[in-house]
Amino acid sequence: MGITKVIAEGKGKRIYATDNPDEAVVYFKDEAIAFRGLKIGRIIGKGEINNLLCEYIFTLLQQKGIPNHFLHRINDRSMLVLRVDIIPVVIKVRNIVAGSLAQRIGYPEGARLKNTVIEYCLKDKTIDDPLVNQTHITAMGIATAQELRAMEEISLKVNSILTDILSDINIELIDFKLEFGRFHGDVLLSDEISPDTCRFWDASTHEPLDIDRFRRDLGDVEGAYREVLHSMTGYVLKNSEDNTDEIR
Ligand code: C5P
Repeated sequence: MGITKVIAEGKGKRIYATDNPDEAVVYFKDEAIAFRGLKIGRIIGKGEINNLLCEYIFTLLQQKGIPNHFLHRINDRSMLVLRVDIIPVVIKVRNIVAGSLAQRIGYPEGARLKNTVIEYCLKDKTIDDPLVNQTHITAMGIATAQELRAMEEISLKVNSILTDILSDINIELIDFKLEFGRFHGDVLLSDEISPDTCRFWDASTHEPLDIDRFRRDLGDVEGAYREVLHSMTGYVLKNSEDNTDEIR
């Protein structure tokens, strides 16, 4: 497998094409970006932790019958995935009020919702990833009603599986975002599932164990990421060096 060129770069990852048109390499960076690029920093070891967490979570989801893009972990910061055509819609799944929902509906953070909330946002930074509904998405031809049904069904299953395994380790799943892609006619769960894309709270103290520690300057961001990795997988990360975020 040879890497050819960079095909996408986001907040926490860089995606490379390979000489196999059906496969891509995801490289996880330590760089952290918040508030639409206004806050940029580094979380030492984040790339390694998110890579290990994605391996663990995507493998678990495959075992539970949820198709996704993960093939295998290549090294400490990279994984091999199926090269999907990303559907430019982000799905946010919410169990407890936090973040942008708290602002939008005027509820306090931490309020429990009577049912799971599913939100759709266009994946378009130039217009700040606006919240849209399913009829906008089908009207714009971004995804079909059938694809949206598949995405919603998978999102709810992921929520149920993750909520269960996290509650066993005293972590509350507040909310998360998912992305999907098309691969030879199928809709596959793609992107990443990590403390960069989920809100994880310590169930006893309600302290965030995720990227909100960076967004809100709560301190010990590395410690929180390591704690999530260790509680979920049993893996203890050796001291990680500051990384250049270049693929090796
Ligand atoms: O900010 P908001 O409350 O809408 O975020 C909901 C969930 O989606 C959070 O877990 C957040 O970390 C995640 N998210 C993300 N990438 C974005 C926006 C939100 O991973 N660009």
